[in-house]
Amino acid sequence: MAVATDATANRRPARPFPTQRQQFGGVAIAELVGKFGTPCYVYDRAVIAQRVEDLRQFDAVRYAQKACSNLTILNRLRRMGVVVDAVSAGELRRALMAGYTAGGEPRGIVYTADIFDQESLELVVAHGIHCNCGSPDMIDQLGERLPGASITLRINPGFGHGHSRKTNTGGPQSKHGIWHSEVDECLRRADRHGILVTGLHMHIGSGTDLEHLGQVCKALESVALSVGRTVTTISAGGGLPVPYRTNEQYIDLGEYFRLWDATRQRLQDAFGHAVRLELEPGRYLVAESGCLIAEIRAVKQMGENTFYLVDAGFNDLARPILYGAYHPISICARDGRPLSIEHEVVVGGPLCESGDIFTQDEGGIVTRRLLPVAAVGDWLMLENAGAYGFVMASNYNSKYRAPEVLIENGEAKLIRRRETFEDLVLCEQLLD
Ligand code: LLP
Repeated sequence: MAVATDATANRRPARPFPTQRQQFGGVAIAELVGKFGTPCYVYDRAVIAQRVEDLRQFDAVRYAQKACSNLTILNRLRRMGVVVDAVSAGELRRALMAGYTAGGEPRGIVYTADIFDQESLELVVAHGIHCNCGSPDMIDQLGERLPGASITLRINPGFGHGHSRKTNTGGPQSKHGIWHSEVDECLRRADRHGILVTGLHMHIGSGTDLEHLGQVCKALESVALSVGRTVTTISAGGGLPVPYRTNEQYIDLGEYFRLWDATRQRLQDAFGHAVRLELEPGRYLVAESGCLIAEIRAVKQMGENTFYLVDAGFNDLARPILYGAYHPISICARDGRPLSIEHEVVVGGPLCESGDIFTQDEGGIVTRRLLPVAAVGDWLMLENAGAYGFVMASNYNSKYRAPEVLIENGEAKLIRRRETFEDLVLCEQLLD
């Protein structure tokens, strides 16, 4: 990708999240619901394209597809010049199906994990896929099958940081990566198989901030110097945050790049050859592109609390119940009437479980949200739901997973149909 332009150009102000909207991605909510029903995930390709542009100064943007792995989304990102990361056999196969290939520089696909299962190892061997190894055992297992391969080591620098304890991926509590003091031993293992360590990678968590980043860069630099001149690629991992609340800021991408670029420069000086700088974002590329449209099916009073109960639940969007994650919410009146009065409400789903609440803090504390007065039949949008939304959906309570729709050039296209009862029981055997 092209070299940096003006780094400060990437600073953007906080985003306002209005509590009502009539359209999404330029298409009327009424039209989307009319065509695809509710609940329904909708992604706006233009937003994804903008986010890709924000990151052009990096040599390679490697999409962490775990955030949203729909085949068409992968295909669109491929066409935008973004390469891809895969963490499982299924993700490897998705990448291949979407037209990615293993080779090239930067490599089209990288397998990043802490283990190989049988299928992922077979795929890696069959397609010659580059591996980012998160455990010493992976080096031996790969070495036995593909001696002479080149690999990346994912390093756990001994500390981490994340938006919640569950998304912190560094430090001794984390299962991820190779412990920083084990690197020498890993190099010896690699030598035994003629494996070359050409890449180093650190991802300490989702929700990086610049303060921690300085530490990460330093840690990566020191490991790189100890590995030496075989290193030709460093990866900054993912974790770039996006604002989920009106008062949250975008990260200063210019500063983010400068810190990593300076690290890369020092390594280039030390090694005397070019070092490629990769980034591995998931959320940053897709979170803001997506929303989950639901219909309000009941409005009821429980003591002092007014509840809007919608037809989407944590089977559709699990982030609130899992992390106490905050998603902006907006309402669209079905009949187009003006929504002028706001009041505080709790928003919940249809599941037979009391934690099925979209307005909750970490630890399951139910909170209220200031939203327009709405009625049964109005639509409610859970916004910024493009990352870790559909991909974490389940069939709990025998709910069918929602369809996914992509808006491009003003047109809404189905990219995954709604599941049916037949899909639900497809793998089951009804024994007498
Ligand atoms: N690279 C590696 C090695 C990762 O483990 C992850 C995320 C990423 C990149 C992408 O991180 P991102 O840029 O999306 O923050 N389900 C959670 C997030 C789990 C992230 C797991 N690993 C959530 O909904 O917030």
